[in-house]
Amino acid sequence: MTRRTQLIKPRIREILSNILSPELVSLLPKHWAQLGDVLILPLREELLPYKKEIAKVYAEVLGVKTVLRKGRIGGEFRETNYEIIYGSDPITIHKENGVFYKLDASKVMFSPANVKERVRMASIAKPNELVVDMFAGIGHLSLPIAKHCKAKVIAIEKSPYTFRFLVENIELNKVQDRMAAYNIDNREFKGENIADRILMGYVVKTPKFIPKALEIAKDGAIIHYHNTVPERLMPEEPFRTFQETAKEYNYGAELLESRIIKRYAPGVWHVVLDIRVFKK
Ligand SMILES: C[S@@+](CC[C@H](N)C(=O)[O-])C[C@H]1O[C@@H](n2cnc3c(N)ncnc32)[C@H](O)[C@@H]1O
Repeated sequence: MTRRTQLIKPRIREILSNILSPELVSLLPKHWAQLGDVLILPLREELLPYKKEIAKVYAEVLGVKTVLRKGRIGGEFRETNYEIIYGSDPITIHKENGVFYKLDASKVMFSPANVKERVRMASIAKPNELVVDMFAGIGHLSLPIAKHCKAKVIAIEKSPYTFRFLVENIELNKVQDRMAAYNIDNREFKGENIADRILMGYVVKTPKFIPKALEIAKDGAIIHYHNTVPERLMPEEPFRTFQETAKEYNYGAELLESRIIKRYAPGVWHVVLDIRVFKK
């Protein structure tokens, strides 16, 4: 923790103690996420009557233009419903590991906890590879590949709103020469037997998309398969499900590596498996 961060929390508490009771001051958020110049603040119910005043103090002390109240992520497009509680503009450019991500932080998910995976992707591919990102979002995982590995990338994103940012991010990062984007459901993608590497950065429903991934994969391709898994089913799952589906479609699957990304819910983990697939 930097000295600046150490000083921030007492400063915020000191200012807000002028309007909040000591009990409410003790409930002020101690952790938050900052994406570019937008702050995402988890605020407890008890603090809601003062949300505007609280957000203003966090904004001024941390120097951000907009503060959002953290809410839920859900639905097919994994949209967020974060309420604007200070400022008016939730669109920002977040820079991480040399990659620019433009997004609407109030509607489009960007998980700070997935940072290690985004950084890992930056050195995962070789320049001559073709990578297909089946759940591209704003390019969370595939921009680092296009930018740092210089591999060719096809990024597929179904949500028209998220897609707008994906297209802008390809330009912002100057990777138009090697990264193309499609605003379709990945199950409508026509490429067969083309990819050296496939990203499946989606959870819960990911198994439904395994047959399409196998169709897009070249013989010997690597699939980065994400899913959530209850701890009691680990370590067999989620590889067992992947392998069974692959077998049904006449593919072999070899588990190369398995990593925990983050805790998804109590007793449930978000994991990523690197799996090599072979045509039988
Ligand atoms: C959870 S976000 C993850 C983004 C990124 N892959 C990551 O792991 O950080 C998944 C994205 O997949 C998109 N998506 C969901 N179903 C899809 C489908 N059938 N075809 C293409 N994109 C889809 C959603 O709109 C969302 O933007």
